[in-house]
Amino acid sequence: MSLTGRRVQAVLLAAGKGTRLKSPRAKVLHLAQGAPLLEHALRAVAGADPVTIVVGHDAETVETTFAGRAQFVRQEAPLGTGHAVMAARQAFAERPERTLLVLNGDLPLLRAITVGALLDAHVASGAAATLLSAELPDAGAYGRVLRDARGDVRAVVEAKDASTEQRRVREWNVGVYAFEVEPLLAALARLTPQNVQGEYYLTDVVAHLVAASGRVAALRVADAREALGVNTLAELAVASRLLVTRRLEELMADGVSIEDPASTFVGLDVVVEAGAVLRPGTLLEGHTRVAAGATLGPFVRLVDTEVGPGASILDHCLLRECVIGAGASIGPFAHVRPESRVGAKAKVGNFVELKKTRLGDGAKAPHLSYLGDATIGAGANVGAGTITCNYDGTSKHPTRIGDGAFIGSNSTLVAPLTIGDGAYVGAGSTLTEDVPQGALALGRARQVVKPGWAKKRSEPKANGSR
Ligand code: UD1
Ligand code: CA
Repeated sequence: MSLTGRRVQAVLLAAGKGTRLKSPRAKVLHLAQGAPLLEHALRAVAGADPVTIVVGHDAETVETTFAGRAQFVRQEAPLGTGHAVMAARQAFAERPERTLLVLNGDLPLLRAITVGALLDAHVASGAAATLLSAELPDAGAYGRVLRDARGDVRAVVEAKDASTEQRRVREWNVGVYAFEVEPLLAALARLTPQNVQGEYYLTDVVAHLVAASGRVAALRVADAREALGVNTLAELAVASRLLVTRRLEELMADGVSIEDPASTFVGLDVVVEAGAVLRPGTLLEGHTRVAAGATLGPFVRLVDTEVGPGASILDHCLLRECVIGAGASIGPFAHVRPESRVGAKAKVGNFVELKKTRLGDGAKAPHLSYLGDATIGAGANVGAGTITCNYDGTSKHPTRIGDGAFIGSNSTLVAPLTIGDGAYVGAGSTLTEDVPQGALALGRARQVVKPGWAKKRSEPKANGSR
């Protein structure tokens, strides 16, 4: 769901260090389901215009990572979430007619559809602010939502500042808000750091809005898990697993077989078509695409890889930035490296490594080979142990093997080298010169056989000397 055309702008809070993660990196750059926390927040507000990210800790890295996706403002010191919104004031005050969404940057499970529902509720009620809340028996360190006898929201109190009684409140503040700009600006101006943490809390604007006779509404999320904030590496792992589980459930509902969801990983931008089978331990990362009828695993990792219809990736393979044709078979134990292309119905067998190599349709490299910077024609057969010597210590050189060529086992192909269509290479050859189409090339020492040699060796010499 997109917010396009909805008169809404957004500010994402991403300046915090994330002290509890004990990591030098900004919190929002940590990965959940293979994507930075901030990526999830950006997708949740897709279509809002403009989107402003407040950066501070490790600002350069955050700005580089998300360049072109939003505008950035710097919060010079991390003086609290209210201070962070004030830092972005210029960015949103120019368009007071657009509702402002403010999101903590550390909520990877939050869905765009929920942000849309918050905006709907906000617009429908005409409140000055609407916040997203959730309920748990123990709301732990989250800010508590305080309501009056009539059920209207009066304030949000941070757990550290809350009385024992307030801490018993089960409804908590998720960190996602819709604000009308003008009342927000007035309320921000009233914030003070008079609290346990000495910070300007964004949550204090709620009481200020109410005091200024504005109405503040709250929308409860149906599933509190969607509201989980990430403050520790353990919470990050939990959030990441929940995201993956949610995605796997969608895929299964759409007809993808997943034998063991607990050991399967599917990244945020991965596409898997109905009828594909993911066996245990299948990890699909980056922009990987898997077509219908493909079978993957067990125990394979694919990064930015395209797998054609009906292909199989057998046990223990690593594939990166490559394209596997329809009906091809890879592995077990194969390593297909970037810029490789395996043709339809081709076969890459066990202990075979491909780098920047094109293997033609129906071609085979079934066992123990290194094929680098090579172009191998359709239907060619590359025997066990064949190695392309593509590197001379300074530069890389290409090897070309024609359609239907047959490369005998344990051949050493010293590049640059061209082997013509339908040519044969004798097993054990070391080739340094091109082989014309249809020829046989032998590049090995001739075998010598000496009959009876062993017996002669063990006989004492005639003169008795040893
Ligand atoms: C905040 C809320 C709390 C809510 C919880 C939900 C406040 C005061 N409290 O608490 O009510 O229950 O989120 O997870 O808002 N940030 C900045 N600049 C700062 C401080 C924080 O940009 O100076 C950013 C952080 O990078 C983070 C987000 O704001 O993305 C939330 O900050 P965090 O410190 O995690 O707030 P909580 O204490 O969890
Ligand atoms: Ca938090």
